[in-house]
Amino acid sequence: SPVRILGISGSLRRASNCTAILRTLQDKLGGKAELIIHPLNDLPLYDQDIDNETAPDSVFAFKRAIAEADGLIAVSPEYNYGMSGVLKNALDWASRPAMKSPLKGKPSLIMTASPGFTGGVRAQYQVRETLSGCLARVIARPQVVIPAVHEKITDGRLTDAASIDFALAAVDDLIEEIRIVRLSQAA
Ligand code: FNR
Repeated sequence: SPVRILGISGSLRRASNCTAILRTLQDKLGGKAELIIHPLNDLPLYDQDIDNETAPDSVFAFKRAIAEADGLIAVSPEYNYGMSGVLKNALDWASRPAMKSPLKGKPSLIMTASPGFTGGVRAQYQVRETLSGCLARVIARPQVVIPAVHEKITDGRLTDAASIDFALAAVDDLIEEIRIVRLSQAA
């Protein structure tokens, strides 16, 4: 069956550069994989008191979307030298129940983008740690960071050829990891 990837953006704003990167990948992947962008706007703040059957539909929908995907791409901005709270909150929801959450064993690729020269690299490490804590299969390399991203986006799409190639090569690694997982599950 075709490879199905879920994309999540750690920025909620409509003109988000991070979301624009996901949209661009969606356009460029062609037949290699289907990329579904799942907005995080409706997730409430994590609260263990409602992390049960009373959780809002948005939580169940998000966890189901992860479970139904072969892999995950998380694109985060850097806020105050760290990952966005939006993304951390979403991953916290998805991380339960511990040890058997939909993130467990999920091939996961991380990208960060920033208007600065550092490309969100500090956020990148935090996302990596969190996904590792959720037992996801984090793609080790390349670490996709896109600096000066505001100069590389036009009309909601990434237009810088080098950045597009960098990001697409990383998605190839993700797809390869998905193949390995599928083979091991079939065995
Ligand atoms: C930022 N920004 C930012 N950039 C960076 O490289 N390092 C940082 O520590 C921060 N800190 C930060 C904090 C807050 C609260 C905001 C709102 C912004 C700039 C940030 O990278 C920029 O706004 C991005 O464009 C946000 O990503 P989206 O919304 O374009 O996807």
